[in-house]
Amino acid sequence: MKTSQSVLVVSGTSGMGRATAEPPAARGDNVIVGGRDAGRVAGVASQIGGKARGVAIDPTDEASIQAAAEAIGDIDQLVLSAAALTYAPFKELTVELAPVRVNAVSPGVVDTEVLSHLGEDRQTTLDSAGAALPVGRVGRPADVASTVVHLIDNGFTTGTIHHVDGGARLV
Ligand SMILES: NC(=O)c1ccc[n+]([C@@H]2O[C@H](COP(=O)([O-])OP(=O)(O)OC[C@H]3O[C@@H](n4cnc5c(N)ncnc54)[C@H](OP(=O)(O)O)[C@@H]3O)[C@@H](O)[C@H]2O)c1
Repeated sequence: MKTSQSVLVVSGTSGMGRATAEPPAARGDNVIVGGRDAGRVAGVASQIGGKARGVAIDPTDEASIQAAAEAIGDIDQLVLSAAALTYAPFKELTVELAPVRVNAVSPGVVDTEVLSHLGEDRQTTLDSAGAALPVGRVGRPADVASTVVHLIDNGFTTGTIHHVDGGARLV
């Protein structure tokens, strides 16, 4: 049995992707942090520590994906967290790729860099969005990361979509 696994986090340089890269790195997995800028991924990997390393990859560019795949080789776990991705045909993909497992996390409002467009209204907007939720706050990147790590570790879960949204679908 392997004692550690390789985990590629595409778009792992910030937000939920970066938070997801941290726990596997801390327990000794071979974490590869992907992002579009080689300098940025190297810097983030070094901050994450452990065996983390960076790889330049643009998830919207097929040539970049191909080059990164050749540079990385085999991996055990793939996490996609890009702010530019759209939904894939999830059920079809799960059946097609079996026994490789495919799971998704559907986040609610999570306080990450993606919300920087809110400018000086950011905190007020987040406070008000959080107050409207059953849990009384918006999400943190670590809330989503713990679910992704659970899905990485649970070999009997596939084809699921996990809602990590503070109960947003109920109100
Ligand atoms: N935060 C929320 O409230 C929320 C809610 C629902 C869904 N989501 C979705 O969850 C995913 C992760 O969100 P996040 O909040 O963690 O985002 P984030 O921190 O702003 O960005 C995640 C990553 O996206 C990459 N990225 C940014 N713009 C890109 C572009 N134009 N093309 C390719 N890559 C790009 C960045 O990597 P590099 O720049 O290093 O390549 C970054 O590491 C996104 O798909 C987001 O839309 C977020």
